[in-house]
Amino acid sequence: MPDLSGKTAIVTGCASGIGAATVRRLRADGAEVLGTDIDPSGETVCTEAGARFAVQDVADIALWPEIVAQAGEAFGRLDILVNNAGIVVSLSIEDVTDEAWDRVYGVNIKGTMAGCRAAIAAMKENPGGSSGSIINIASTSAMAALPNDVAYCSSKGAVRVLSKSVATHCAKQGYKIRCNTVIPGATETGILHKAEEEIPGLMAAVAATSPMNRLADPAETAAAIAFLASDECPFMTGAELLVDGGALSIHPGF
Ligand SMILES: NC(=O)c1ccc[n+]([C@@H]2O[C@H](COP(=O)([O-])OP(=O)(O)OC[C@H]3O[C@@H](n4cnc5c(N)ncnc54)[C@H](O)[C@@H]3O)[C@@H](O)[C@H]2O)c1
Repeated sequence: MPDLSGKTAIVTGCASGIGAATVRRLRADGAEVLGTDIDPSGETVCTEAGARFAVQDVADIALWPEIVAQAGEAFGRLDILVNNAGIVVSLSIEDVTDEAWDRVYGVNIKGTMAGCRAAIAAMKENPGGSSGSIINIASTSAMAALPNDVAYCSSKGAVRVLSKSVATHCAKQGYKIRCNTVIPGATETGILHKAEEEIPGLMAAVAATSPMNRLADPAETAAAIAFLASDECPFMTGAELLVDGGALSIHPGF
């Protein structure tokens, strides 16, 4: 298990799914955690895990410095940011509205960018010198597109390259701040349950795309996040960890 004792973290989208599992995992590995979510029920998840909680709409980018300051006031430093909050609005290129596009991009990419920017400003000033690990959550939909989710897929594609730009900027500046991407495959969370309501049978169909023939447990994704958050991988930056049960590794005919 990675040792995160002495480290402090912000995890967005903590009220359910991968975010909730990540709060629990980082706490179990010893980190102090501030979980945030637009949904106030995130407080229950955080309280049960011994974490702090703040209501945050990640797309409200003016609020990001305040959230980072809250972590600084509570813990004295910021070591880890997990940009996990994400939304899907299922529309194809022919149907997508300007409003839906802006909403998805506001959360998935603008919010992630603003989180990186605010976290770097704080991580540069950590006691003892710059240090930190930023983990952005993309999706296998950023590697193989879903025809009905044009905004989601393309925003997650942008997250992948955003992470690489952040990673290389920080490295070139001499900051000891790493930035990596976790790419989950189909994971049993709120997003999939919502999609199942619209498309009955979707979860089983998606599970069948993995050679393991199952969905991921959010805790399995959180384990990859905890690894990247830790000091176990100091030369990993700009990297992508695929947590998809082999779904993208198998030839489509098998
Ligand atoms: N579940 C999957 O199959 C899957 C696959 C690939 C990638 N992902 C990604 O994993 C991440 C977590 O999703 P999940 O599967 O746990 O879904 P989820 O719906 O269970 O959790 C998402 C959380 O984000 C919060 N959120 C939504 N909009 C927000 C906003 N504007 N500000 C703050 N919080 C907001 C929600 O309230 C929710 O608690 C997302 O970025 C998602 O795109 C999920």
